[in-house]
Amino acid sequence: MKEQRVNLTQIETVAINFMSKLQPGDVVYMQGDLGAGKTTFVRAAIQSILGSDEPVPSPTFTLVQTYDTLNGPIYHYDLYRLVDPEEVLELGMNEAFHKGITFIEWPQRMGNLHDPNHYIVSLEAAKNSGERLLKIICP
Ligand SMILES: Nc1ncnc2c1ncn2[C@@H]1O[C@H](COP(=O)(O)OP(=O)(O)O)[C@@H](O)[C@H]1O
Ligand SMILES: [Mg+2]
Repeated sequence: MKEQRVNLTQIETVAINFMSKLQPGDVVYMQGDLGAGKTTFVRAAIQSILGSDEPVPSPTFTLVQTYDTLNGPIYHYDLYRLVDPEEVLELGMNEAFHKGITFIEWPQRMGNLHDPNHYIVSLEAAKNSGERLLKIICP
């Protein structure tokens, strides 16, 4: 996808549309600095399936949040506070890759445990505005 400039509403629309194309087994790396909008994107994606009443907190401290849906689980990881890359195994990431749809914030913390086939959603603050530069790369 070509890079686009998006405001908050547009980012949610893109997230909902993107989510509708994902299937169990798909892995999505969320790239961008703190505050870029990674959690905002994933929240919109998950709420498009479970409804806007579903709380989707940032997994900053829990490292992973799991959501059950009729089409299998959705896993939302935030590895910012991960110390040892091996810890992702304890967090059930291998199983997540097989069973569900997996979103990962701070995937660069995974060391050599990367999934070879993953989408990349890249977010970057646009200069002098609340907008973001958004790009999606397919596996
Ligand atoms: N165009 C935009 N896209 C995403 N977030 C935006 C946008 N404009 C403002 N924001 C705000 O920026 C913050 C992004 O935070 P968050 O999604 O938690 O970032 P991250 O998970 O990347 O650290 C939210 O408070 C959100 O409301
Ligand atoms: Mg976040």
